[in-house]
Amino acid sequence: MTVLQVGTLKPSLAQTLERRHRAIPLPDHDRDGFLAEHGEAVTAIVTSGRFGVSADLMAKLPHLGAIVNFGVGYDTTDVDAARERGILVSNTPDVLTDCVADTAVGLFLDVMRGFSAADRFVRAGSWPAEGNFPLTHQASNRRVGILGLGRIGSAIAHRLTAFGCTISYHNRRPVEGSPYAYRADLVEMAREVDVLVVAAAGGQSTAGLVSREVLTALGPQGYLVNIARGSVVDEETLVELLREGKLAGAGLDVFEHEPKVPSALFALDNVVLLPHLGSGTVETRGAMEDLTLANLDSFLHSGTVLNPVY
Ligand code: 8YV
Repeated sequence: MTVLQVGTLKPSLAQTLERRHRAIPLPDHDRDGFLAEHGEAVTAIVTSGRFGVSADLMAKLPHLGAIVNFGVGYDTTDVDAARERGILVSNTPDVLTDCVADTAVGLFLDVMRGFSAADRFVRAGSWPAEGNFPLTHQASNRRVGILGLGRIGSAIAHRLTAFGCTISYHNRRPVEGSPYAYRADLVEMAREVDVLVVAAAGGQSTAGLVSREVLTALGPQGYLVNIARGSVVDEETLVELLREGKLAGAGLDVFEHEPKVPSALFALDNVVLLPHLGSGTVETRGAMEDLTLANLDSFLHSGTVLNPVY
């Protein structure tokens, strides 16, 4: 049984995989040579949402039985191809919900109240030189639309309810028993809210969902927060509308081509930019590591995974 590591992983996870399972990392160079030598033996892959596994790689691993993903999002893995080949795919749900929801609330507060911009203002010595920081906008008691009322979307809604916000949401279908108002039309929801929070899974089915039409409906008084995937938003249009003042601001933890961030955003003070750190706390990443190892152990011992994605 050979465990293959695809992409860079949290160092302690990579060390444990090496120590316990003698896992081997997929090299960046001469992959074909490597796969010719080891491909037959590989039964499990451990990867992360940042890297994932293509159909092409699966095809070169005839005995691959499981792809164990560090992270809740698995849009970089071709799940349809995995299903066709009978390869299990697991992820790490629940354990990161609170930290990602906290990040969304942090971005929501920061972009509306301008905390990061005000911090730069103080550090630059502008307070004594220029006087008071310009007025910002109230975050409490706003109308917030959530795109994707799953585990993380619900945790964000719960937090923002405590801020007095009125919550609506858009999903493919209404969530049974949800206390929040369902909006079947995303453009309509964008038109009626002050803040649109993106919490939908990435991948083909949501690519570009926050389109020019949606961003235009959000309008010059509207804010966008994205803690999901950059691919869900038309990033080029987002940058254009922010530069032209046709959107009030954006709080972004995710981007289309990470770790690249459109440099046009660097000059904008109404934009808060984070390096995809939503789940990035010692506690949560530790829990994700434990759950990743538990999924791998389960597969190696019983042929099943604890958190199957399909
Ligand atoms: C991780 C994430 O940082 O879980 C996810 O889907 O985006 C983050 O929690 C990422 O998956 C690790 O690469």
